[in-house]
Amino acid sequence: MGERAEEARHCTVHPLHRPRQRRLARRINNYSIYRALRRAIRDCRAEQPILMAPCGYGWFFDRFRQDRIEVVGIDIEPAAVEFARAAVTPPMRVLQGNILEMPFNDGEFDFVISNRFVLHFNAEFRAKAMKELARVTRRHLLVHYDSNSLRQILRRIRGAQEPERDVEHAPGWKKTKRKERKLLYTPEMMAAEGAPAGLRVKELYYVCYMLSDRVYCLYEKAPG
Ligand SMILES: C[S@@+](CC[C@H](N)C(=O)[O-])C[C@H]1O[C@@H](n2cnc3c(N)ncnc32)[C@H](O)[C@@H]1O
Repeated sequence: MGERAEEARHCTVHPLHRPRQRRLARRINNYSIYRALRRAIRDCRAEQPILMAPCGYGWFFDRFRQDRIEVVGIDIEPAAVEFARAAVTPPMRVLQGNILEMPFNDGEFDFVISNRFVLHFNAEFRAKAMKELARVTRRHLLVHYDSNSLRQILRRIRGAQEPERDVEHAPGWKKTKRKERKLLYTPEMMAAEGAPAGLRVKELYYVCYMLSDRVYCLYEKAPG
């Protein structure tokens, strides 16, 4: 049975427990990603709960719970919210809502994570999202970006080109995504993304330098 068919068969199974997530390479990759997040949280001595915006279906909620890191999640999709609420017992607090208008006070969270999100959108959306994420954090915001890696260099040498996304026919929030696939950030681009929202780059957490595209940019709120 193909992977897709296998996943469809498991559609009532929580996404954290589907076959794709159980494959060894994915588990190693996920562990490396989680380690980078946890290192940033610990380095900042983040006060809890931290906010995950968006939280999707509760990716890493099980690991956060094991490490006694309490999380509040927010996501626009009711199905994702439902899964996120079922990810661990007792559940983390998860709200349904839009990142552009979050129902939280200014500085309500000491530490905010935005994983696999802002990089998918156009500059106008990213600017609004960064402002709102900066508003609700008291001190730190950790944002996932893609950056140059050996894989990207090899792709360029091969002249590989992925077709644009068909966002017009995509369902729900996916319509608001950029058409172009990868947006590779340099540290200067990350600094420029945070500055209008009053954020400055404190540190970069690479998941696996040059082997993984993924990097987490730790921003801190600029004083004033
Ligand atoms: C690629 S997933 C990443 C989810 C999560 N951060 C993770 O790492 O698993 C993108 C998520 O963003 C959510 N989303 C998209 N637009 C949103 C918006 N405007 N406000 C809140 N959540 C949104 C989607 O529902 C989806 O769960």
